[in-house]
Amino acid sequence: MEKKKCVCIGVSGGIAVYKALDVISALRKNDIDVRVIMTSSATEFVTPLSFQSLSQNMVITDMFSEPKAWEIQHISLAKKADLFLVVPATANIIGKVANGIADDMLSTTIMATKSKVIFAPAMNTNMYENPIVQDNIRKLSKYGYDFIEPASGRLACGDLGKGKLADVNTIVERVLKELNINEKEKDLLGKKVLISAGPTIAPIDPVRFITNRSTGKMGYAIAEEAKKRGAEVILVSGPTKLQKPSGVKVIDVKTNEEMKAEILKHFYDSDIVIKSAAVADYKAKDYSNEKIKKGNEDLNLVLTRDNDILKFLGDEKKNQILVGFAAESNNVEENAKNKLIKKNLDYIVANDITSTETGFGSDDNKVIIISKSGEKIFLDRMSKREVASNIFQTILGKR
Ligand code: CTP
Repeated sequence: MEKKKCVCIGVSGGIAVYKALDVISALRKNDIDVRVIMTSSATEFVTPLSFQSLSQNMVITDMFSEPKAWEIQHISLAKKADLFLVVPATANIIGKVANGIADDMLSTTIMATKSKVIFAPAMNTNMYENPIVQDNIRKLSKYGYDFIEPASGRLACGDLGKGKLADVNTIVERVLKELNINEKEKDLLGKKVLISAGPTIAPIDPVRFITNRSTGKMGYAIAEEAKKRGAEVILVSGPTKLQKPSGVKVIDVKTNEEMKAEILKHFYDSDIVIKSAAVADYKAKDYSNEKIKKGNEDLNLVLTRDNDILKFLGDEKKNQILVGFAAESNNVEENAKNKLIKKNLDYIVANDITSTETGFGSDDNKVIIISKSGEKIFLDRMSKREVASNIFQTILGKR
């Protein structure tokens, strides 16, 4: 399972502090865990609260913390962060690090980390060109610290020259590159994807229930793939033994009714809805509050129809892209196509459940993706994660 990348942003004091907010919001959109350390002079320009709101994490400042508290905090953050970005980096913080000075939270943490540290300097042009600053930059570069060159232009003080903080996009691209995050692969950024997975259960009495052989693997693979592509993912899951995908909101349900209720809470503002759950079509007509005792006669259990959730969603849908699954044991294509029409779907993913190597419980699947317009994509046997990727490629018109 992919772990979220963590970037520690060190903010030192300068007029460009507010631009660090834009850097943070771009990193957050790429699902990066952002931690912020502000020097006390940085807090004179922008309040820690602004950084806290955007990063959605507590901001560390030197203002109120006891030196003792640093000892622990700086070591844990120094270890946790995959990358340090100092933006804007003043002559002061560059000078401190270059000379081994660790006298506040930011300089101490930088000193303690083994992760890559990138400085994005911003300062008056005369300061930037000062041979001492240039010497410090050279020295740090020699030790493996990186710099994002400032731009030239009119500076806040009115002077013309080099010293303006580099463009926010340049800084963000540099961070993403360092973390091996390819923004082009995040093609579901800003989209909300709702997925159902696993079986549902229909209780008969307090100890017995009817269910099916679904393990949830297909739906969980779809959720992981959607997350990787940058979507906000809601996974409504029937009982499974699977580990919850990280960064995905998982809502556990048991019955058809619970699944329908939870799905409806998220359906209307979702962009893509994929129903891979094997929902029970029938439930016991009369649920027994007491455990049913055995007798000598046959026991007739009367089942009654339960909700067809997908059909309901098809009738309700506005702009959502609705994708269903079809578990078939014969006439796979034809039955799936009929379901697609009957349930007003945009796509249906059909699989032949009679195959022992694919389908229920297997890590692989062999499916046909059929679109509303009648286009059919026949996929060979492949991992469920690859099937998930193919589903999104199809929806996004990337095939
Ligand atoms: N589905 C649903 N609610 C149900 C039954 C199915 O939402 N009560 C959804 C499934 O999640 C799947 C699709 O409908 O995306 C097709 O499920 P499937 O079991 O193949 O078909 P059914 O509609 O139940 O038809 P049948 O069992 O007759 O093949």
